[in-house]
Amino acid sequence: MSAQEITLTVPVTMPILITPRLRINEMTLADCAQVERLASDERVARTTSGIPHPYPVGYSRAWILSHLLNFVNGVGAHFAIRLKNDNTLIGCIGLGLDKANDSAGLGYWLGVEYWGHGYCTEALHVIISWAFAYYPLQRIEGDHLGTNPASGRVMQKVGMTYECTRRAHYKKNGVLCDLCTYSILRDEWQDKQRLQH
Ligand SMILES: CC(C)(COP(=O)(O)OP(=O)(O)OC[C@H]1O[C@@H](n2cnc3c(N)ncnc32)[C@H](O)[C@@H]1OP(=O)(O)O)[C@@H](O)C(=O)NCCC(=O)NCCS
Repeated sequence: MSAQEITLTVPVTMPILITPRLRINEMTLADCAQVERLASDERVARTTSGIPHPYPVGYSRAWILSHLLNFVNGVGAHFAIRLKNDNTLIGCIGLGLDKANDSAGLGYWLGVEYWGHGYCTEALHVIISWAFAYYPLQRIEGDHLGTNPASGRVMQKVGMTYECTRRAHYKKNGVLCDLCTYSILRDEWQDKQRLQH
């Protein structure tokens, strides 16, 4: 048996992260319909890089299946965000890993009906804590479109630092948009956690 075959037979379980209101865990194929329903809303796709609009039928299945492979291969960690009380999937959050540079890039979105309750901030806080504990990262960063200040506000609220705005840097639906970048370094995160306890 080759090394690759051996690796693929090792069962992998993704972590389960619990916050006061949320359960953040792996997505399964049972989530396809809900992901498709929430991500199909143009208001979600409008400001998110990885969501096509119109949302193609069957796209959520391929996307969810890619998560476990990405996690096993150490290139990404993507999770469902669920309400703890009834397990409803309300959105997604994840990291793309850049191992060569000890860094990771954030992505997240919520279904429109769940916006404005602090859920993304709650999810982002626990994901950053987990990521610095689980991976030897020095830096976690996130970008948002200039037209999407709510996403910047989420990153501010967890203590990330605004770095820059790259003008006309990202083409969304054929239109070049400004891209704003936030980051946090391992030492900064640890200092913030110490101060809070
Ligand atoms: C961005 C998004 C994830 C935020 O999720 P959320 O759970 O509503 O975020 P939170 O409630 O934790 O925090 C949102 C903050 O943004 C603020 N906000 C909302 N709209 C804003 C606006 N137009 N300008 C400035 N701040 C805004 C809110 O007031 C809140 O800050 P506050 O707590 O200080 O009042 C959600 O709107 C979303 O999924 N949007 C579509 C997909 C997307 O843009 N993903 C991010 C790609 S970079």
